[in-house]
Amino acid sequence: MRIKAIIFDAYGTLFDVHTVVDKCEQFFPGQGKQISEIWRQKQLEYSWLRSLMGRYVDFWSLTQDALLFALKDLKLDLTEETQQTLLNEYLRLQPYPEVPKALERLRNLILAILSNGSPHMLNTLVENAGLSQVFNHVISVDELKIYKPSMGVYQLGVVELGVLKEETLFMTSNPWDAAGAKTFGFQVCWINRFNKQFDELGVQPDIVISNLDELTEKFL
Ligand code: LAC
Repeated sequence: MRIKAIIFDAYGTLFDVHTVVDKCEQFFPGQGKQISEIWRQKQLEYSWLRSLMGRYVDFWSLTQDALLFALKDLKLDLTEETQQTLLNEYLRLQPYPEVPKALERLRNLILAILSNGSPHMLNTLVENAGLSQVFNHVISVDELKIYKPSMGVYQLGVVELGVLKEETLFMTSNPWDAAGAKTFGFQVCWINRFNKQFDELGVQPDIVISNLDELTEKFL
């Protein structure tokens, strides 16, 4: 079936979560990469754990908790102010270099973001990256108060866009998100930006590319 819409994941897919490394380096030289890696990993774990426990807090609070863990884990001293400055970097994450032009080329399709991010985080991020005009929909899981890969979240995308899941391509760099979207029934493209291994979750993406420039007409 012909693709009518593309739904993108945000963090790690369109936007580089490790943009925060530079600011972390300013405060803690030599440890920026490690802080950023623990920070992101805990952010994801907390989203899954809180979903399983039925104890939703929005992605901003959860990202703050994950940062606090990373800093404590590495025994780094932090003031409230430092913590806030680092957290605010999440509103200014950079899109990967090919993203803006690649999105331009796809504008004959319905384009959407479906993300764990809170509405404020996503809208600020998209605006700061100059991409406000590109997306027809920016959808946050906050409406449902549960995180991906809950099936309800992918269903929310279909409902908001008014398209069939079979005619929707879901694009993500996160293997667990690709597995969730495939389980739901989307056509799925995994953007394997860093030559990683796909997860063993019993499903496979339909398409694998290494960046958005490789998503050419032949797939759509
Ligand atoms: C998101 C995270 C999972 O944007 O990357 O939803």
